[in-house]
Amino acid sequence: LSLSLSLSLSCFSFLLNFFHCETMSVGDAFLSAFLQVAFDRLASRKLLDFAQYWKVDVERKNLIRTLRKINAVLNDAEDKQSKDMAVKEWLDELTDVAYDAEVVIDEFATEALRWKLLEGSVTTQASTEESQVWSFNIPASFSHFMFNVDIKYKIKAITERLDDIAKERHDLGLRDGVQGRSYGFQERLPTTSLVNESDVYGRDEEKEKIIDMLLRDDQEPCRHNKISVIPIVGMGGVGKTTLAQLVFNDGRVHEHFDMKAWACVTEEFDVTRITRAILESATEKPCNLENPELLQLSLQNELKGRKFLLVLDNVWNENYTAWDVLTRPFSACADGSKIIATTRNNNVASIMAGRSVPIHYLMHLSDDDCWLLFQKHAFGNAINSRNHPKLESIGREIVKKCKGLPLAAKTLGGLLRCKVEEDEWEDILNSELWDLPDDKSDIIPALKLSYHHLPTHLKRCFAYCTIFPKDYEFEQEDLVLLWMAEGFLQPSNRRKEMEDLGREYFSELLSRSFFQKSSGYKGEFVMHDLINDLAQCVAGDICFKLEDDMQNGTLEKARH
Ligand SMILES: Nc1ncnc2c1ncn2[C@@H]1O[C@H](COP(=O)(O)OP(=O)(O)O)[C@@H](O)[C@H]1O
Ligand SMILES: [Mg+2]
Repeated sequence: LSLSLSLSLSCFSFLLNFFHCETMSVGDAFLSAFLQVAFDRLASRKLLDFAQYWKVDVERKNLIRTLRKINAVLNDAEDKQSKDMAVKEWLDELTDVAYDAEVVIDEFATEALRWKLLEGSVTTQASTEESQVWSFNIPASFSHFMFNVDIKYKIKAITERLDDIAKERHDLGLRDGVQGRSYGFQERLPTTSLVNESDVYGRDEEKEKIIDMLLRDDQEPCRHNKISVIPIVGMGGVGKTTLAQLVFNDGRVHEHFDMKAWACVTEEFDVTRITRAILESATEKPCNLENPELLQLSLQNELKGRKFLLVLDNVWNENYTAWDVLTRPFSACADGSKIIATTRNNNVASIMAGRSVPIHYLMHLSDDDCWLLFQKHAFGNAINSRNHPKLESIGREIVKKCKGLPLAAKTLGGLLRCKVEEDEWEDILNSELWDLPDDKSDIIPALKLSYHHLPTHLKRCFAYCTIFPKDYEFEQEDLVLLWMAEGFLQPSNRRKEMEDLGREYFSELLSRSFFQKSSGYKGEFVMHDLINDLAQCVAGDICFKLEDDMQNGTLEKARH
């Protein structure tokens, strides 16, 4: 208790010093994580024994039952919230109550632990000194009795509030047991190898570096295969696909390889579908084979003795076995064959390429290139831009907001293409990215995809990072302490130190490009501005920063 109190205090003063005391919200991330933890705790042996002994088991069971009802419709609600305002409000309300429930369950679990510890010490002492047992036992029992009355009331009250919310699920038409999540938005269009080179700015150095790796035949082949993998890793929208397209279409590369193929992988790593896509692209003919065996054999046949270049664009798969199956036909290709794989996740890259292969991290575009890209999409060309000096100066400010992310520069440029009123430009400059309608802007949906791929426990940790001001440089140890104090770390293995667990969470987020090393790295990290926006977007009203405009913000739901 004292540890958590001192952590909370140090965390509080940390926030005071660095963020001028801020507050935030965690939306769906919080709910899923909350329920996961709540069930575990309420069902634990310790709590069960305590509840039965002190006659609060009926209340405990009722609470579990109500939470189950809510849990059953949670997937459906999270899917529907973007389209249905009433469902969104229902989830907001639920999140609010869930925070209170968490406090009650915390108290319940802490008391159960204290009881267990005292029980233990009472039994050991009983065998030695009877008198001490009495003097010790009576106040302990009394405090438990008082607590019992108190917790019974609190659990009842919170269960009633949750029950009211659970009842509304029928009116909202929420269905039980909806599996998985259709994220409420589509991934961007499937990619192809075609690119208009004159539309691409910068990236000369990166392009040459990768081409150089492709043309070298002396690279260590990946494990048993004759084909080696070059991973391109970076956050969503930074230009990985574009770079792969540039390389794929380069004349020298075309000359060097006997056969080339482009396959857009996307979220579901369906080996049969991908094998068919590779075969079709390599042969430039449609293929209607369904049988995985036949597909792999025909691909193997096509590749026999040929120097082959494959681009696997947008890989999310972290399953080594699936990857191993996919690459079997490649054993037939000639030495020097290569795969370029683009991914947002460092771990995915390591699974494909092995630890020894250098990973190519794609960094942001320079401000100048970003401006040229924006100019092209907003004005069409430089002359138009010079003819509108006012718009140009607002445009340059907008580009600063993009922080080198080409997807953002292109999307915002495209949004302003037909607009000539200064007001409209100012609006975009001053608007928050998450306020832009999803059908007009790909930015948040593209980044949100990374968020949806996070395991639940990391979602909450990430959303919490919205307390960081933009460009704030933070250290791993500080953030880990904050997560610990908030109770975000969920130990699955008791022997693991909390700090180590926190560091693991941190490196997961780092490898998925949510954090990056600060420029001039001396152990600090930063979040890209747009990733910070994403955190704000998923956190909603539960987090509140004092630097925010107080008039627009609502403190009612703020918890952090
Ligand atoms: N260097 C660049 N010059 C011009 N446009 C770019 C550049 N890099 C990326 N883009 C554009 O930005 C958007 C996102 O790029 P993309 O390559 O799809 O990113 P990623 O694959 O990393 O998610 C695309 O529309 C692309 O055309
Ligand atoms: Mg891509």
